Amino acid sequence: MRGHSILIASWALAVSIILNGRQLCSGCFLEEKHALLDFKASLNVTTNAHLILSSWTGKEGDGANDDCCTWERVKCSNITGRIVELHLSDLRKNMSENWHANISTFIPLKDLRALDLSGNYFNSEVTGCRNWAKLQNLESLYLDDNNFNNSIIPCITAITELKRLSLSDLGLEGSFPIEEFKRLEKLEFLDLSSNRFSGSTSFTGLAFIVRSSVGGWSLSTSSTFSAVLQ
Ligand SMILES: *[C@@H]1O[C@H](CO)[C@@H](O)[C@H](O)[C@H]1NC(C)=O
Ligand SMILES: *[C@@H]1O[C@H](CO)[C@@H](O)[C@H](O)[C@H]1NC(C)=O
Ligand SMILES: *[C@@H]1O[C@H](CO)[C@@H](O)[C@H](O)[C@H]1NC(C)=O
Ligand SMILES: *[C@@H]1O[C@H](CO)[C@@H](O)[C@H](O)[C@H]1NC(C)=O
Ligand SMILES: *[C@@H]1O[C@H](CO)[C@@H](O)[C@H](O)[C@H]1NC(C)=O
Repeated sequence: MRGHSILIASWALAVSIILNGRQLCSGCFLEEKHALLDFKASLNVTTNAHLILSSWTGKEGDGANDDCCTWERVKCSNITGRIVELHLSDLRKNMSENWHANISTFIPLKDLRALDLSGNYFNSEVTGCRNWAKLQNLESLYLDDNNFNNSIIPCITAITELKRLSLSDLGLEGSFPIEEFKRLEKLEFLDLSSNRFSGSTSFTGLAFIVRSSVGGWSLSTSSTFSAVLQ
């Protein structure tokens, strides 16, 4: 009898280890995988399309590659198994091709903490990006060197958890919308270099580091600070 109990107990233990193992191995969440595939599908690229994010295939029964946490440029949390970082800079293969992407496709990534889309020269009319308010864990956003315009500003300032924000060379212009950026109360770093802002802006009362075209790094504290942005 005793032998039996031990046998049953160890069998149960083995089964539970296998099942848990399976859960961990099945890795990425289906809705997150679909979000990545939607992003890839939204890239309207013709030159060398097969070289761009080539591990992002998502075919069922594709072995380890079925798990989007193993895909290039994707980092998942070891604990939750959800995507926490996407490093999608410099995806472009042909600099003379005019392309765009749908960056609303990332909304299902609830645990996303860092998103880097810099250096892609996306020609995007940014539509639907007000949904970005749903990216409530996003702390780092790098959008440098894309052909966006001021229409992206309300989308960015809706992501209230942002700590690091890099907006260099995005085609932003006009006077800097300081009031909108005041919503980002957790901001620590903001790069605004290589845009076409006009006039001067006072960062008084904002406790984050601002990098602008003029003067390189500037530390803005509660003391009076003002930068001429151009
Ligand atoms: C991508 O779409 C844009 C606008 O819709 C178009 O101007 C561009 O030529 C397209 N690019 C390719 C490579 O098809
Ligand atoms: C997650 O696991 C990978 C691979 O086992 C390891 O390299 C990495 O350091 C782990 N990360 C954390 C935050 O524990
Ligand atoms: C790059 O894109 C341009 C414009 O679409 C096209 O004319 C050219 O053939 C492409 N280059 C290559 C290597 O495919
Ligand atoms: C962009 O992606 C979102 C989310 O997947 C989708 O709802 C929307 O229709 C897409 N927009 C375009 C223009 O394809
Ligand atoms: C941004 O660019 C889009 C497409 O080129 C245009 O329709 C829109 O009016 C521009 N928005 C602003 C604020 O410049």
